[in-house]
Amino acid sequence: QHKRDSLMIVTNFANKRFQDNLRNDPSSRGIGYSYLRERGFSPETIDKFELGYASSKGDDIFAFGSQNGHTKELLVESGLVIQKDDRFYDRFRGRVTFPIHNLSGQPIAFGARILTNDKKQPKYLNSPESEIYHKSKVLYGIAQAKNTIRKEDNCYLVEGYTDVISMHQAGIENVVASSGTSLTKEQIKLIKRFSHNITVLYDGDAAGIKASLRGIDLILEQGLNVKIVRFPEGEDPDSYARKSGGFGFKDFLTSQAQDFIKFKISLLNQDAENDPVKKAEMIGDIVQTISQIPDAVKRTLYIKEASTLLEIDENILINEQNKVILNEK
Ligand code: GTP
Ligand code: MN
Ligand code: MN
Ligand code: MN
Ligand code: MN
Repeated sequence: QHKRDSLMIVTNFANKRFQDNLRNDPSSRGIGYSYLRERGFSPETIDKFELGYASSKGDDIFAFGSQNGHTKELLVESGLVIQKDDRFYDRFRGRVTFPIHNLSGQPIAFGARILTNDKKQPKYLNSPESEIYHKSKVLYGIAQAKNTIRKEDNCYLVEGYTDVISMHQAGIENVVASSGTSLTKEQIKLIKRFSHNITVLYDGDAAGIKASLRGIDLILEQGLNVKIVRFPEGEDPDSYARKSGGFGFKDFLTSQAQDFIKFKISLLNQDAENDPVKKAEMIGDIVQTISQIPDAVKRTLYIKEASTLLEIDENILINEQNKVILNEK
């Protein structure tokens, strides 16, 4: 317990330091702040998400942390500092910082982005796991989103930090990201405390589509409802929200949200065309997904809908489904 408290304190300390550096670090000449402003984040948004800048000096957190009474062991255990032999240096250097908060809004870890498009370095670095940060159980933005998720009875799920932030700026606050990991069961259970409806907004690329398909099954398995919005190739919620402006973006989301079954069928239809073998595979795949739904009434309704959309007799689909369910028992 004492250890957890100390980790919370040192993470909070670093968060304050990063925020302070963003505007005041003389050695950085405000490059972190300019980067965020140029991306379109307002000063209010920067404050709301406590965005910061990790000095490029290399030992800013180590030196200033030590001065402030944080032990080397604690700095290393928090992931803020890396020890190599008997040398200590900061994990995050010359990057903008995105604190990851727990449900009650206290910082427990960081994501940190480089300011350039240098492909030789990882675009984002993340804090390692610690006693206060279990990344599979955390959702970026949940503290800022939870009340609105409950009020709207829907949660938008995005890939990245900047997607969450841009959507807030566009007036949409019921949004979280599973940043740094692929979606987990624990993360869905966390959302379920506030709403049973999730709308997946993953990037408009092959990786995003693949992740959406995986997400759908996982979400259905937890008994939640799931819709999907497809973005044009190369766009993500951040880039698209900026293009369309707040009001247009909201309309886009509402009008484009497709129930999972329509999304899957239109996606699979693209590949299957008129090939009967492919079409059979596709039907098996859709039945498999519907079988994840724990509620029998909902399953029946989705089978009906699939039967209409696929133009396949309902009884055939029911038979297929029974095979899947028997196999899983
Ligand atoms: P921007 O380029 O700043 O707009 O970020 P993005 O969120 O659009 O990035 P992208 O779609 O490439 O990735 C989605 C999320 O995956 C990011 O927000 C990060 O959480 C994570 N991610 C992306 N690149 C890396 C990486 O190089 N390392 C790690 N650890 N995570 C990454
Ligand atoms: Mn519930
Ligand atoms: Mn991507
Ligand atoms: Mn993206
Ligand atoms: Mn992006």
